[in-house]
Amino acid sequence: AGHDLDVLEELGRARVVPVVVVDDETQGLGVAKALSDGGLPVAEVTFRTAGARAAIAAIAAEHPDLLLGAGTVVTPQQVDEAVAAGAKYLVSPGTSASVVRAAQAAGIPILPGVASASDIMAALDLGVTTVKLFPAGVVGGPAAIKALSAPFGQVRFVPTGGVSAANLPEYLGLPSVLAVGGSWMVEKKLVVAGDFAEITRRTAEAVSIAARPEG
Ligand code: 3PG
Repeated sequence: AGHDLDVLEELGRARVVPVVVVDDETQGLGVAKALSDGGLPVAEVTFRTAGARAAIAAIAAEHPDLLLGAGTVVTPQQVDEAVAAGAKYLVSPGTSASVVRAAQAAGIPILPGVASASDIMAALDLGVTTVKLFPAGVVGGPAAIKALSAPFGQVRFVPTGGVSAANLPEYLGLPSVLAVGGSWMVEKKLVVAGDFAEITRRTAEAVSIAARPEG
């Protein structure tokens, strides 16, 4: 649990978690460097491609200090794959008891996804108090977080889904928001085009917005 706290604290310091979709190691390493160059050595590499596992392993080897997570983890088997590849934390779009228990057994922090009060209660039952709110924009955005924080004052949210440079300050201004997640700075078309300069530019912009006092 001490290790969990370290990772969550680091996410809370970073304030922004880039959600990355890459096809292979080369794309993964390019994105990791572009994010680091932009001042945000953090990435959630999603299990949405056949190459995700290899990309995580390559980034872990080349950027040991990067706060590297595995996202879209929806089965206990993917928990084990992500851990073996070198992920430091896991993110899931929903709250599955078998997935959360597998992560706990492996000793790796996991942020399960929630979209409702019932989901939050399922996460709390599993001993988890830091959750991903997904899809944040669709379930009500900052207003939903304010409403859910009333009964669940102990819960910390990482809203993800529809977050952008434009609404970032509104999310980060909420005391129950630990960090936000989003793909806007690592848009797939930029990765495919190899436009790492634009990824770095958007990343630096996000870092500077997050550093503002109201953020
Ligand atoms: C996720 O799974 O977290 C989302 O794909 C990220 O949402 P976004 O693409 O709207 O930022």
